[in-house]
Parts: sequence; structure tokens; C-alpha cells
Amino acid sequence: MTSSVLPTYNRAPLHFVKGEGAWLIEEDGRRFLDLGSGIAVNALGHANPELVQVLTEQAGKLWHVSNLYEIPQQEALATALTDNTFADRVFFTNSGTEACELAVKMARKYWYEKGQPEKVEIITFSGSFHGRSSAAIAAAGSEKMVKGFGPVLGGFQHVDWGDHDGFHAAINENTAAILIEPVQGEGGIRPLPDQCLQGLRKLCDEKGILLILDEVQCGVGRTGKLFAHEWADVTPDIMMVAKGIGGGFPLGAVLATEEASSGMVVGTHGSTYGGNPLGCAVGKAVIDRIADEGFLDTVRARAGLLRQRLEGLVASHPDVFEGVRGLGLMLGLRCRIAPADVVKAGYDAEVITVPAADNVLRLLPPLNITEDEIAEAITRLDRAATALESR
Ligand SMILES: Cc1ncc(COP(=O)(O)O)c(C=O)c1O
Repeated sequence: MTSSVLPTYNRAPLHFVKGEGAWLIEEDGRRFLDLGSGIAVNALGHANPELVQVLTEQAGKLWHVSNLYEIPQQEALATALTDNTFADRVFFTNSGTEACELAVKMARKYWYEKGQPEKVEIITFSGSFHGRSSAAIAAAGSEKMVKGFGPVLGGFQHVDWGDHDGFHAAINENTAAILIEPVQGEGGIRPLPDQCLQGLRKLCDEKGILLILDEVQCGVGRTGKLFAHEWADVTPDIMMVAKGIGGGFPLGAVLATEEASSGMVVGTHGSTYGGNPLGCAVGKAVIDRIADEGFLDTVRARAGLLRQRLEGLVASHPDVFEGVRGLGLMLGLRCRIAPADVVKAGYDAEVITVPAADNVLRLLPPLNITEDEIAEAITRLDRAATALESR
């Protein structure tokens, strides 16, 4: 049967009908261990009872009101975010892409209001991913993403990942901001070393430009800190968040300092659904849980265990895997064969992983994965790798 759905995804023939924590249940009853979490979305696992309760309670009261009115759930989540981060202001979106759009607008508007409208250029790393809107594909800039979608939105410059001299050389009097992922996700789980992030912060301060961090994939506890930049002990001016913050409910946000957000006054931006009571009620429960230091301690401990076990897996299957990289529970297995083949073998072994660029297999389990589930994950990945070796 041909599908009526626009065929922009190469979908696996799996029909999941239920989720329970780190598990996805196929309609034929098979239980898959989910090390993808919907690409870092289900941060607290599937059908988390606490989130189900918050969602259903709110659903019984009020789903949507316009942003023409005050929304207490939105205020509460914004306060939880500003209490726990560098930020003074928050705007809620429905996705990471929309967060990217606003981050770009905010940076440009900042300079416009400062009387420097020529400062519109944003420098990004090649190999980055910021979403699929016209601004987000221009920000990433890869041929694969922009081809056929011209004219490409102007004002973006790209430098090679980790190329500091490239950043220095690219900055000019029209530069508004630097936009980077502290840990590249789609690009192949590449954490930017702490000293690089510190260097970029310093560079932005010296040149008087804004630092925008895209923490859509690496934020919300994923790396073992509430936000990944905390590892480097630096703060951005603007930050994009999405995925994990809604625990599975579509929710995103832009966080910013008072100064960086100062151009965004009444009438400059909006969203019909952004910050709706349902999403914000769930998001508040997610942040309350994940911002807790005890919770993050456990994430770090589980991450250490998973990483150690993955190193063992690599050692046992040197023809399939080359090495482990990443930060916290945002881990990548560099493969010696096509990661898509490993993902497929994983399906046969009933374990879900996600491919990324640079020959990397992504592992983004729920942050509350248990030690037993980690052991089971390794057993299943081992089974998949063994099957690949005997092809
Ligand atoms: C780092 C990063 N930024 C932005 C996005 C876009 O987010 P969304 O798909 O919610 O629009 C993604 C999605 O994968 C991402 O990984």
C-alpha cells in the first residue's frame, strides 16, 4: 500500500503501540529496548507515570489559551528555567527549529536596536544541525540540506568544526553572533572540548558579539549537567532548547539574558501554540525532576557505566566498532561499517539506536535508564554485532 504521508523519511517497518520507561512495544508484542528516546526526546522514558499524571490533570482543565492572556503554567516553567540557568528571559516554542528561528531573529534585532543594523552575520560550524526551516538550513549550510531550497537565507558563514583560527578569521564588523552546538548531535556526537567553548566565549567577549548555544539535543540533563555548557563553566547569551524539555510533548524554548533579549519587545515575535498550558505543565515537571542534583548524579553514574560497557563492546567487536565518544548519556559508537546496517541489526536484536553523520551510531537512552537495562542493552548490542560479523 502506498502511504498518504509525504515520503521525507526512510521509515523502518516497525509499528510501536506502547511505551514503558526505556521500552517500546511493537504491535506483534516484541519489546524493544529504546536507546534512542525518539532522538533525545523521551528524557524520562515512555509514559512516565508522573508526566502522565501532570498531563492528564492539565488536559482535564485547560489545553490552550492564546498568548494574548497570562498563562500561569508558562510563567512557572520560565521561572524554573531562569532559576536554574544563566537566563533572565524565556520564550516558548513548539520545536527546536522554531527556537533556532527566534535565536537568529533575537541576535539580529539586538544589534539593530543598538544602532548597528549591519551586524547580521552569524558564524556556525560546518556539520552542525539546527533544524529544517529556511534559517536553520542556512545556519547549517550543508549542500545536502540547502540544495533545491534556494534562495538560501543570507548572513551565515561556516567554519570547520573546532577551527578556532577559522572563527578569528571569519569575524568582521558585520558579525552578530556565533551559533554552535556544545555537543554536535546529527553531526556525529562530537563534544566541543571545554577549552574550545571557553575560547569562543572569550572571543565573543573580546569582539563584542553574541554567543548562541544550540542545546536542543545536548541539553536538559542529557550530558549529566542540566545544560552541556555548564561542563565548561561558561554561559551563552542566547540558548536554544527543545526535545527533552517536553519529555515527549512538543515543546521548545529560547533562553536569553536580559541584555541579549532586549530587542524583543511587544509585537516582535509570537506563536499560537508556543507556551500552551499542556506543554508547560509537562515541561515544569520534567525540569523539576531533571534539575535535581541527585537525579543528575545518577545520570552521570549511569553514563559512566554505559560508557565503560560500550568500551568493552568495542573491544569485543573491532571489525564493527572503532570507538566510543560523547558526553554523559549522549554517546556515539564510531562504526567500521555503515551505521545504518548496525541500526538494522539492532532491530533484529530488539534494541533501538539512531544513526548520525561521520559513521556514528547514536545512543541516547532515557536519562533514568536502570543498571539492569544498561546490561541488557549491551547484551542486545553484542548480539547485533555478532550477527553482523557472521554476515
Ligand atoms: C541540535 C539540534 N538543533 C535543532 C534541532 C531541530 O529541532 P526540531 O526537530 O525539534 O525542530 C535538532 C533536531 O534534531 C537538533 O538536534
